[in-house]
Amino acid sequence: MMENPLVEGLRLERTPEPCTMVIFGASGDLTRRKLVPALYSLAQQNLLPGGFSIVGSGRTAMSSEDFRVKMGEAVKQFLEAGAVDKSVWENCAAGMFYIPTDVKDQESFKRLGELLSQIEQQRGTSGNRLFYFSTPPSLFAPITQQLGSLGLTRSSGWCRVIIEKPFGHDLESMQALNKQVLEVFREDQVYRIDHYLGKETVQNILVLRFANGIFEPLWNRRYIEHVQITAAETLGVEGRGEYYDQTGVLRDMIQNHLFQILTLVAMEPPASLDANAVRDEKTKVMRAIRPFAPEEIDQFAVRGQYGPGAVNGQPVDGYRQEKEVRPDSATETYAAIKLLVDNWRWADVPFYLRSAKRLPKRVTEVAVQFRRVPHLLFKDSEPLQPNSLTLRIQPDAGITLKFGAKLPGQAIKVRTVNMDFRYGTSFGKKSADAYERLLLDAMLGDSTLFARGDMVELAWKLLMPVLEAWQKPADHFPNYQAGSWGPREGDAFMQQDGRRWRRL
Ligand code: BG6
Repeated sequence: MMENPLVEGLRLERTPEPCTMVIFGASGDLTRRKLVPALYSLAQQNLLPGGFSIVGSGRTAMSSEDFRVKMGEAVKQFLEAGAVDKSVWENCAAGMFYIPTDVKDQESFKRLGELLSQIEQQRGTSGNRLFYFSTPPSLFAPITQQLGSLGLTRSSGWCRVIIEKPFGHDLESMQALNKQVLEVFREDQVYRIDHYLGKETVQNILVLRFANGIFEPLWNRRYIEHVQITAAETLGVEGRGEYYDQTGVLRDMIQNHLFQILTLVAMEPPASLDANAVRDEKTKVMRAIRPFAPEEIDQFAVRGQYGPGAVNGQPVDGYRQEKEVRPDSATETYAAIKLLVDNWRWADVPFYLRSAKRLPKRVTEVAVQFRRVPHLLFKDSEPLQPNSLTLRIQPDAGITLKFGAKLPGQAIKVRTVNMDFRYGTSFGKKSADAYERLLLDAMLGDSTLFARGDMVELAWKLLMPVLEAWQKPADHFPNYQAGSWGPREGDAFMQQDGRRWRRL
């Protein structure tokens, strides 16, 4: 059986082989909100194989019947597209099981093994197993070890594991986790999930660049002046205070989601869409990023934390007042960094990455700003904005090209106008949730849209000097009001380079 099917051009829709998916952390939020609704939606589109089964597992004691009822409610509550079809759901529920496991109790894992064999016989899933680790990260290694020591990863079919983020907390813990995982699974069986890669608009970065002849000739230092990648959120920590306070936005968003986007924007064309061909090129970008010099961190990175304020007209607490957050926390909820990709294509073109919680608007976008014309003929014009191409990842997904046009009238005056493409208008079809795409790809053995170990390691390596510098107490926190565009230091950070953040 092949782990990396050859892919010609854009992927065709395919159906995976029958398999069983084992979800650890099945009573958690992700399972309810994302995983089971995504699986239901795949079933509704007829994309799941016959016999497909789900085994939920976790420390919570629950019967299979309880699990089915809970998941049925979750699908009703969280399914984004349309109503739940009773017969599709009943069919899914018939293949759903639950078994409690505890990493400290090997017997519980033996019972899991027995259940898997039974399902495989009864439902014809041929020993194909997809494990999903949706537990707190501290359990990733112990679960792997239990599975390995009982041989549950050596069935008669294929075995793969999807591991949720965060993959490590820093370089050292990432390397340790990777080592433990690779003692049981081969790298090609490991699917490190980054849900941003499942977003249609993120995949469209490759299509825009490599399916069109007009952009790629301009996609380099000769024409591009700088790039801004922003992930702005209106949300706060939403009941995840304990996790977030140990994490911060650099680890939560930049180390994974924003780096993934950056590599798609900056990579060279791969020879094919084969998983390793794409990931090799992305990894090369990571290798080319100039490391941060510890004494220059302040010129390359800036941090912030929100205080009380208002978002969407509603008063909200400051970060330090959130539940399970330390009252003197120095965890950053705003981060901006400047990266230089030291290669022929990108030398001296800064990539600015920023992400934050509690900003006034939810927007994720990539803005490519082009160089100005060498000599401007139209002196009477209002100050012209440089050309830019903005890829809006979410919401209101689309692409906007900004350019100068002549204002109607006798004089030659130029004004900046937009040329717009909107997904909604052009395709009239809502994009599938990222988890649908990624779960299906993992069942198909296609790891293109998953993070490979070497890239994750490089991302941690790069950020370590910043993480270390930011361990210092932050006496200036909170330094932005919830519902504002971030701290003054964030603006000053751009001004020092003679640039400014785009208004979103
Ligand atoms: C998650 C982070 O990975 O991504 C969250 O842990 C964040 O803190 C979320 O809110 C953002 O995802 P999306 O798809 O809503 O942009």
